[in-house]
Amino acid sequence: MDSSWTMWLSCMWVAWFMLVSAEFQRFEHPVKADGSLSFLVIGDWGRKGAYNQSHVALQMGKVGEELGIDFVISTGDNFYEEGLASPYDPAFSHSFTDIYTASSLQKQWYSVLGNHDYRGDVLAQLSPILRRIDSRWLCLRSFLVDTDIAEFFFIDTTPFVDQYFRDPKHQKFDWRGVIPRKKYLSRILKDLRGALKESVAKWRIVIGHHPIKSIGHHGPTKELITHLLPILEANSVDIYINGHDHCLEHFSSITSSLQFFTSGGGSKAWKGDFDYLDGGEEMKFYYDGQGFMSVVLTPTNAKIGFHDVLGRVQHSLDLSKQTYNAYTAM
Ligand SMILES: *[C@@H]1O[C@H](CO)[C@@H](O)[C@H](O)[C@H]1NC(C)=O
Repeated sequence: MDSSWTMWLSCMWVAWFMLVSAEFQRFEHPVKADGSLSFLVIGDWGRKGAYNQSHVALQMGKVGEELGIDFVISTGDNFYEEGLASPYDPAFSHSFTDIYTASSLQKQWYSVLGNHDYRGDVLAQLSPILRRIDSRWLCLRSFLVDTDIAEFFFIDTTPFVDQYFRDPKHQKFDWRGVIPRKKYLSRILKDLRGALKESVAKWRIVIGHHPIKSIGHHGPTKELITHLLPILEANSVDIYINGHDHCLEHFSSITSSLQFFTSGGGSKAWKGDFDYLDGGEEMKFYYDGQGFMSVVLTPTNAKIGFHDVLGRVQHSLDLSKQTYNAYTAM
């Protein structure tokens, strides 16, 4: 074998290895000096302030101040109706920078993409150009944030939904980076399984755009029940948080310690527009209006609040880590 052939072979091997060993990009986020962590969760928001987006933002600022939050999580559908047209789309400033202006919200934002974000230039929101415009912004497809007391697994759920591929109707999706789809999805599931296996005992929180449990307009996502839920249950995930349904919800699993939260009330809510399903005994809370979630985590406790457009707490709960997350409503 001549040396250029050997060189070519070893390059191919390196390329192949990088491909098969690719995994979630990992970020570290420090906890507070007392070992705790607090954050807000908002979803389905970017409407240039309309539909009470600005009012929700104002209350987030107040609650964020009280809790001294460490970061904000966005569950996707960040920019309506069709994501961003490019990284220079002024909608980024008009719906994000100019809206979430409170000093308490000048923290890192960790965001996933929603289905509406896939209807624009999908690469725009992932672009480092946005981080130069507003350094708070971080949106990736699937990634992991590690803190001393909790690990956050952000999952790109939109490509799981069959209907967007089979019957997109008037919607045009930008599937760059997703095709071939089957490979893309199995990679996410494999990486998630691997990351959960490696994770040492602490809070495990998984974030996606689409609901696993919901009685809202869209309801549960069957593809996630089939492919994602079994992984969450098998790896003692504590909490799954999503948006997509424009409401606030809490479900408590009857077969595991998993809690399901919807935070999709960042702007336009569907108040009264749709009939909803019976949530059964797992349903603990459903609020068909605008709002957001707050979370305070210690190594052993999680205190969760659901706030409406006026900042009022509509529902709250405490989870305890020692008691296998048996949850107590307050
Ligand atoms: C905004 O919030 C107020 C106060 O709850 C409510 O009365 C109003 O209907 C909301 N507006 C929209 C457009 O949702």
